[in-house]
Amino acid sequence: MLIICVGKTHAQKKNIRQPKWWKEAVVYQIYPRSFKDSDGDGIGDLKGIISKLDYLKSLGIDAVWLNPIFSSPNDDNGYDISDYRSIMKEFGTMKDFDALLKGLHQRNIKLVLDMVLNHSSDEHEWFKQAKQSRTNPYHNYYHWWPEEKGKPTPRYSFFDVNNDAWKYDAITKSYYLHYFSQKQPDLNWENEKLRNEIYNMMKFWLDKGIDGLRMDAFQYVSKDTTWKKYPEGYEKNIINYYGMGPNLHHYLKEMNKEVMSKYNVMTVAEGAGSTLEDAHALVDEDRHELNMAYHFEIMDIGNDPKGYLLTDLKKAFTKWETSFADKGWLAVFLANHDVPRMVSKYGNDSPEFRQASSKLLTTLIMTMRGTPFYFNGDELGMSNIKFDQIEDYRDIATINAHKNAVLKKKNLKTFMAKQQFISRDNTRTPFQWDNTANAGFSSGTPWIKVNPNYKSVNAFAEEKDPNSVLTYFKRIVAFRKETPTLMYGNYQAYDLENPDVYCYTRTDEKESLLVLLNFSSKEINYHIDQKINTTAAAPAINNYTESPSKKNNNIKLMPWQAVVYKLNKH
Ligand code: GLC
Repeated sequence: MLIICVGKTHAQKKNIRQPKWWKEAVVYQIYPRSFKDSDGDGIGDLKGIISKLDYLKSLGIDAVWLNPIFSSPNDDNGYDISDYRSIMKEFGTMKDFDALLKGLHQRNIKLVLDMVLNHSSDEHEWFKQAKQSRTNPYHNYYHWWPEEKGKPTPRYSFFDVNNDAWKYDAITKSYYLHYFSQKQPDLNWENEKLRNEIYNMMKFWLDKGIDGLRMDAFQYVSKDTTWKKYPEGYEKNIINYYGMGPNLHHYLKEMNKEVMSKYNVMTVAEGAGSTLEDAHALVDEDRHELNMAYHFEIMDIGNDPKGYLLTDLKKAFTKWETSFADKGWLAVFLANHDVPRMVSKYGNDSPEFRQASSKLLTTLIMTMRGTPFYFNGDELGMSNIKFDQIEDYRDIATINAHKNAVLKKKNLKTFMAKQQFISRDNTRTPFQWDNTANAGFSSGTPWIKVNPNYKSVNAFAEEKDPNSVLTYFKRIVAFRKETPTLMYGNYQAYDLENPDVYCYTRTDEKESLLVLLNFSSKEINYHIDQKINTTAAAPAINNYTESPSKKNNNIKLMPWQAVVYKLNKH
């Protein structure tokens, strides 16, 4: 049995235990387009969110992160911003935004906005100007390759049909760079004028009283502008090449000085480079850059429709937990708007186990150190929709990858089967409020189909059911809030090679908790490591109604059972 033991002195622990609201918060992510439509156009909006403020309050969460709500032609659902200081027309007005912020604050819920700063929309005024001529003052707000230099050094684009990140512009006789779609030109952070515009824009929102910023794709902002050639196959390890560019830390320090240091806000980076050192360099307190980051290592486990090994998941969590035991801070999550539903990916979404495995995954997120980021709908146990025709998909990533598959004559059956598992649209289907038409999301035609399981999987039904996934979510969020050990306590994993059960403790001076998670669809007779004294163990959380049968350190765990024991009484 392998034991990872993290022994730290009191002085070492001081830093990470420094209480901060954003370390103690549970962040709930709302995908506004799919949350609640108030005007019947089939697209969720701010007034819709306002109408659900009491629902948000009832969850017990502390902060809401909204995916981008700014003006956008929606090539990538708001991640292509055409005006950073106004609200997307489908979502409402600035008045609605102010009312939403007020309504959240009245309920003691903070608001985190999504800052898309690696690129803008090609419909942003800056880009419209930039492509008028090479001498236009905005030309340098973007990255260009003049045609007289010949073909640009290849760069990979995530969303382009041909994965080509350079697009030719006939007026300026130059190519512009777009790591994402052709409608998402990359901003040139080398340009100080651009950086200052961005800092002022950030202050505009912070002065309105928002509480945090999620920095979209931020690890990519600094480019190696010598445009050196990358080796064959580099795109398989893209973060090694695109992430953590030469001036990234300079920009972050500058941004911190100019903006963040003036507000008591939370900052979280999407992406954390390729190594533990990269991640620490972004978030360690003494560096004065960001508060926390989320890395992709856990998200990448489970991308294979054939399944994943629990041992890989446990080792990844343990590696990051251990490295961040004393310094720095991480976000903890299993899902967001870019990945499948967590129950379909890491759990078992069959009718038999959907509820238990959803609850188990929620238990994992809520008992880890780090700030939980929880995606809307997961608290209901929503699962992948698994579209079987390309016409049902709305996401540019899937649609363009399909075009690429057609062009390259790839096996389309295999392609479609994979999309049913990994497409981002699986998590973007409308929130399931009740069992009325369109799951109560909209009185019009939803922009994307509703998952047919809404008849039974919906908030209205689950609110009344004491054993629902939703009721369990509320219970465990409340438990985390009253248990600082879960926020700051040491993490110690046991039995890492066990393929079915994840066993760990969370401990501080006051108490010790034991978490047991059966990640399999079978009953398991599990032997808890002898080093853990379970004599006085009292179950505090259990996702089954019956108490687990435990004798000394032997316990019978039901399929997908999650149990949290308090090991000592206080
Ligand atoms: C981030 C967002 C994703 C978006 C991309 C481009 O990864 O989370 O949704 O498509 O950046 O902005």
